[in-house]
Amino acid sequence: MENFVKTRWYKDSVVYQIYPRSFKDGNGDGIGDIRGIIEKLDYLKELGITAVWLSPCYKSPNADNGYDISDYRDIMDEFGTLDDWKEMTAGLHERGIKLIMDLVVNHTSDEHYWFQESRKSKDNPYRDYYIWRKGRGKNGKKPPNNWTSRFGGPAWKYDETTKEWYMHLWAEKQPDLNWDNPKVRKEVQDLVKYWLDLGVDGFRCDVITYISKTVLPDGTIPDGKFNPIAVGDEYFCHGPHIHEYLHELNEKVLSHYDSMTVGEAANVTLEEGLKYTAEDREELDTIFFFDHVESDMMMQVIPKKFDLRKLKAVFTKWQKGMFGKGWIALYYENHDQPRSLGRFTGKYGDHRKEAAKMLAVSLHMQQGTPYVYQGQELGMTNFKFKSVNEMRDQLATNIWNMIKYIPLVRRLFIPIMNRRSRDHGRMPMHWSADKYAGFSEVTPWYEPNPNYVDINVEESEKDPDSVLNFYKKLIALRKDPEVAHIIKNGVYTEYYPKNKDLYVYERSYKGETILIVCNFKHKNVEFKLPKEIAFNDAKLVISNYNDSLPLSSMTLRPYEAFVYKIS
Ligand code: NOJ
Repeated sequence: MENFVKTRWYKDSVVYQIYPRSFKDGNGDGIGDIRGIIEKLDYLKELGITAVWLSPCYKSPNADNGYDISDYRDIMDEFGTLDDWKEMTAGLHERGIKLIMDLVVNHTSDEHYWFQESRKSKDNPYRDYYIWRKGRGKNGKKPPNNWTSRFGGPAWKYDETTKEWYMHLWAEKQPDLNWDNPKVRKEVQDLVKYWLDLGVDGFRCDVITYISKTVLPDGTIPDGKFNPIAVGDEYFCHGPHIHEYLHELNEKVLSHYDSMTVGEAANVTLEEGLKYTAEDREELDTIFFFDHVESDMMMQVIPKKFDLRKLKAVFTKWQKGMFGKGWIALYYENHDQPRSLGRFTGKYGDHRKEAAKMLAVSLHMQQGTPYVYQGQELGMTNFKFKSVNEMRDQLATNIWNMIKYIPLVRRLFIPIMNRRSRDHGRMPMHWSADKYAGFSEVTPWYEPNPNYVDINVEESEKDPDSVLNFYKKLIALRKDPEVAHIIKNGVYTEYYPKNKDLYVYERSYKGETILIVCNFKHKNVEFKLPKEIAFNDAKLVISNYNDSLPLSSMTLRPYEAFVYKIS
């Protein structure tokens, strides 16, 4: 396209993530859907967000809640029709809200036409759309290598028809696409173009760092430290052609639209993150990194004690490292993460609202594009699981099936899942105190957290002090001429990095500065104004305890957070 300049609108956006199955049931079958989203468009507008990331709504047999796609060009029956989708997209656009769709192209569903063909014979034209290998051992009945699926067990499934194995880094029903095949890359380019032409504004690129795999010599077992769900990572994460393939997709399609991409970038280092997002490399526009949500985890699933200093060190590393060179997504929650309350705040007790608001401040004042996951704006909380029967996620049930006969380990399952389960964030959104949280009028696919009677949209709208109303103010700051330019462009400086209780940083742009102070603890904490800071004409920007100017030394109350414009 001639004279085409990208506006990079995402740098001014706040994105709201919708997990459609759990957002709002619009047709009375107990499952969230597109008509449900249409009902809530004004809610989104009032919240002030300017883009929506919609988790997959394409045709899917739902082995992994839509992350297993059987038709990239159509909508899942349970969620509605393409016409519903068009109406929703028009409704978002009328309200000035952009739409970011999920792009899941590391793998398809095994029910996708390409795979159905691929598995038929070794000379089928679609054979090389996927990664097929001979097995090891005498009869080829052992997987080609020791790589594991991120859902547990081998990353290979034997297929009787052609007596070969196909690779699946997630569930068996999610065979990995072979990106080394130019036809696959062309298919992806075409489907991206298809949605852009229908009016989509951007894509969240699912597990995009895994698309380029090392070509395996059949029968080799790569070395690797044992982690039951990460064997082989070093061979397929940020693989050999990843940057080339992303650049190609950008050059061929994305660069011709005023679109944006955000890549889900597991295991990404700062160095690699810069390669993905540097504007002149033309690959992705932004990434989700994981370091901070792994600051209380080992091997991605085993909880460990949260240490604020580690979280701050991660933020500071990315804030400083990306400054002027790349752009990041800011998030605490999504459909794969537990709720952040309790996780990064310790037991918040009767300070739920203050804690939720404090977390929001700690994130939204950083440089990057903030993401709000449905329900986070209400301060929704984690559920207390007592049994595996209360869980719906395949990852949880797979883990349970692997460990249920190991007496000592099985006892850890519930405590671990209470910290880690993906189901926490997937329970239905709380719209009101009505039955089923106002999510549906019939028994929903997943019972809501019983605390919906107290924590819900209807109540929050009435309460001037609610987390929801606070989010509205916080989001509005990204458009406020007093501070928006500082939040977007300001240099980041952290104070007191060794402090275990407080997160204090400033953002400074062309002589104007904001100071951000967050108490992460459920107790009073002493705070001294950093001596570099003069606090003369300070002006309150936002705070979670309707209060006056802090003194040079003061006691912060539990989860107190404020932002002052200090110059
Ligand atoms: C990442 C998605 O966020 C997650 O929900 C899914 O299970 C995997 N990718 C596989 O698509």
